[in-house]
Amino acid sequence: MTAARVVTSDTAGIELAINALKRGAAIGIPTETVYGLAADASNPSAVASIYAIKGRPSFNPLIAHVASIEMARGEGVMDERAEALATAFWPGPLTLVLPVAANGRTCELARAGLTTIAVRIPSHPVTQALLTLMQGPLAAPSANPSGKLSPTRAIEVATELGDAVELVLDGGPCASGIESSIVAILPDSAPTLLRPGAIARDQIESITGPLAQPAGTAITAPGQLQSHYAPRARLRLNAQHAEPDEVLLGFGPQAPIGADNLSVSGDLTEAAANLYQRLRQLDASGAQKIAVMRVPCEGLGEAINDRLQRAAAPRY
Ligand code: TXA
Ligand code: MG
Repeated sequence: MTAARVVTSDTAGIELAINALKRGAAIGIPTETVYGLAADASNPSAVASIYAIKGRPSFNPLIAHVASIEMARGEGVMDERAEALATAFWPGPLTLVLPVAANGRTCELARAGLTTIAVRIPSHPVTQALLTLMQGPLAAPSANPSGKLSPTRAIEVATELGDAVELVLDGGPCASGIESSIVAILPDSAPTLLRPGAIARDQIESITGPLAQPAGTAITAPGQLQSHYAPRARLRLNAQHAEPDEVLLGFGPQAPIGADNLSVSGDLTEAAANLYQRLRQLDASGAQKIAVMRVPCEGLGEAINDRLQRAAAPRY
């Protein structure tokens, strides 16, 4: 597979990207969480190419990325609770699942036919510029082959998706390194955390009050599919040490000196930013089994543990 072209995100690069998007192509874009595979959300054939390139089942809906709260209101119905979350966290790594607005521009395929829609305003300046020039929503899932690790560098998108992607805009390494938090704000139900992510639960709850857990398994957020975010190597979680056939992925100062470590100081923000990168490096080094030390479940640790559990889940 030939790698996709990586393009510097200067004015000329952004113009190339806009031209590609307007023609209906899918391109790699940087966000503050992970890289996205973006296409014009109003164009069903452009959206279809996202599903095809990722090998993603078409029942799994995409997030509509928009430039402003006005644009978000055009796609989803925002009640007071949604407005309060938007004021607190947008632009930034929060996705709201809302009732579909009457004249929204996001096509049905991007929503996988649901009557709800996921919307977010990313804060990455390159994607802000793109969205402002597009004047319309971009559908963008994480830019990984379905079920694999999300990319946090442009080169990973270019090599792992290859030249089925017309170009990848390079916006540098992603600051958060883990996907957005997804909260459903729907009529007659409590705010519900569908996916823990780059904004910690207690920060969200400081605006919404206690968040509900998703009921049953009906509606899916990313990793509702059990095996997801999976490296090639097998993972063993909450390890104290590595067995002879394992490589250790440590966390905090208690890990052996010189071991691979998500954050030597035990900082969860740093660990989130390093997570996919370290797993990729261990895969590239040929490791077959990875023993991951315990990461506390507080703050961003909830999202880190969610991704680790899915990465460790049995594969079918
Ligand atoms: O940080 C992020 O959110 C990244 C960047 C690129 O923005 N995007 C991302 O997209 O993680 P994706 O497609 O990998 O994960 C979003 C998940 C989907 O797997 C889907 O299950 C869920 O959001 N989702 C989308 N629309 C939904 C809806 N209407 N109801 C419930 N879940 C929904
Ligand atoms: Mg994803």
